[in-house]
Amino acid sequence: MTDTVVDVTETAEPAEPAETAQAPEAAEEERADTWTSLLERLSRQSVTPGKHFDAYVDVAWDDEAYRIDPSDPRWELGLNEPLSRTAWYQGLPPEVRSRIGLHVVVTKMKIGLQFEGILKQGLLGFAAQLPNRSPEFRYAYHEVIEEAQHSLMFQEFVNRSGIDAQGMRWWDQLGARRVVTLGRRFPALFFMFVLGGEDPIDYVQREALRSENPVHPLLERIMRIHVTEEARHLSFARHYLKLNVPTLPWYRRLALAVQAPLILGTMSQLMLRPSSDIVKTYAIPKAVISEAYSHNPDHKAGVRASLKKVRSLARDLGLVTPLSKPIWKAFGIWEDDPA
Ligand SMILES: [Fe+2]
Ligand SMILES: [Fe+2]
Repeated sequence: MTDTVVDVTETAEPAEPAETAQAPEAAEEERADTWTSLLERLSRQSVTPGKHFDAYVDVAWDDEAYRIDPSDPRWELGLNEPLSRTAWYQGLPPEVRSRIGLHVVVTKMKIGLQFEGILKQGLLGFAAQLPNRSPEFRYAYHEVIEEAQHSLMFQEFVNRSGIDAQGMRWWDQLGARRVVTLGRRFPALFFMFVLGGEDPIDYVQREALRSENPVHPLLERIMRIHVTEEARHLSFARHYLKLNVPTLPWYRRLALAVQAPLILGTMSQLMLRPSSDIVKTYAIPKAVISEAYSHNPDHKAGVRASLKKVRSLARDLGLVTPLSKPIWKAFGIWEDDPA
């Protein structure tokens, strides 16, 4: 096995530039320099051994320790998954508990690779409209390549699980085509969508890697590879927004302020609740879903915590306005985080 130890606390965040009193043109130049050096650093990491991974080189798929057995108790839902704390789940036979846990993982991987498919198309659209010599071009392509490797890993895992996860069937109705075109038409909103999908999943994976629950070694390997590379994607999206949102015309800022909580609320629900396919397959009673998710203050606090970074970013960028704050609250994703 070629396991590389990945520190889950590792991030690709650059140091913030020091605040200095200077002429606006000089400040503008310094911001551009910082952005360019961030892109150079992220691009360099994308080709540095131990920081970038290949789905069929860096995962020892055929290792006996990586074999997927649906009745393996290590698939049982951990305490960080609210369904595991219900009497309904605890009363199930152990092999059903394991199978449900594996089904949840497989569904997340399927949804993850569908989300990454939209992301890759949007990134290609974003890169297509960049002029020659744009420093963003190379990094956007590294990100497309990394997402393609993740999707290979996720699909291989789904195939080996023997479970036919449905993924997000409602996605077409919700306008996947429109999101894809945002990469070209409205990159700031596109990168907000990127954060809406990547931030909650990154949070959940880091929590799982830190927890005491036993994790199947194949899943652990995939999660460690994923959080390492996602740190770069998150850094790119956040810094793109920091640099570009202040320069947008008012009507674009307004559109972003209103649509950001809609996107974040919808994406976090999709990523952090069991799919309708799972609910149907295991006949999970409505009351159990309500107890574990809809009316569970712990789950709601977890969802808000998973969006903490992107919420602070939206606030810092002036996107939380009297008009948009009620939307955050309506989705239950607002919190008065300490500054
Ligand atoms: Fe990914
Ligand atoms: Fe990503």
